[in-house]
Amino acid sequence: MEFVTYEVEGMVGIITINRPKALNALNSAVLDELNEAFDAVDVNTIRAIILTGAGEKSFVAGADIGEMSTLTKAEGEAFGKKGNDVFRKIETFPIPVIAAVNGFALGGGCEISMSCDIRICSENAVFGQPEVGLGITPGFGGTQRLARTVGVGMAKQMIYTARNIKADEAFRIGLVNAVYPQEELMDAAKKLASTIAKNAPIAVRNCKKAINDGLQVDMDKAIVIEEKLFGDCFETEDQKAGMGNFLEKDKEKKLKVVPFQNK
Ligand code: CAA
Repeated sequence: MEFVTYEVEGMVGIITINRPKALNALNSAVLDELNEAFDAVDVNTIRAIILTGAGEKSFVAGADIGEMSTLTKAEGEAFGKKGNDVFRKIETFPIPVIAAVNGFALGGGCEISMSCDIRICSENAVFGQPEVGLGITPGFGGTQRLARTVGVGMAKQMIYTARNIKADEAFRIGLVNAVYPQEELMDAAKKLASTIAKNAPIAVRNCKKAINDGLQVDMDKAIVIEEKLFGDCFETEDQKAGMGNFLEKDKEKKLKVVPFQNK
């Protein structure tokens, strides 16, 4: 692939958007390659993904403005769908995806980070939805996910003003979970991913599904979603091993995790 790389380190996959000349902006080719990269992940062996951008300046500086500049109404809608389909794939990907935001996360960059489960960033990160300054709305889920992530009032302020915010403000409003010096960001992301990878994989997947699916419905339906996914865990080796360890007072309390079992 030309614009996206995929590496594996143990049980962690690292997907890097690599188009530094355009600050990793998302054109159709990058979106296609991102789609392929996620399809290529072997979810039977990989337990968490880190998504980042190449270089030290930019995570993703948005959708490609050059490519969008000549679109018709129908083409604009189709381009929005193309991005939304990839981002939804990330959001519903069976294993957790961590965005390691290493610089600009503007427009589509902020939006792709919000389709990930967890966001951490470097001190030089800048977040924003600058679209109304370009005469468009956010088009890859920003109007929906920003409000769900930081609350309606703050999301509307960011989107209507098109004002960018720095890492400390992103942390304060809950858009990112932690801020690190640039040189420590990837290590922190790998540590977080490895911590997740050590836990029972089916339980982690079921947690992601329960949280994601539960947020789409009312509480009565949401708790039923949880009950079913909770129940599923009792068919797994990990539940037997994990609870067995506790009852046997295994000092290490280590899960004797087994490879992912298809149910
Ligand atoms: N699309 C296409 N090219 C981009 C780009 C983008 N979103 N962002 C940066 N680039 C390109 C620049 O055109 C430039 O290319 P050349 O060297 O060939 O001229 C190169 O990347 C470096 O950029 P700058 O020279 O502008 O770098 P800078 O340090 O002066 O500024 C920046 C950095 C503030 C991020 C600035 O590049 C910028 O404002 N970029 C646009 C950010 C933006 O508006 N993003 C939202 C896009 S709309 C969107 O994403 C819609 C949606 O929701 C789907």
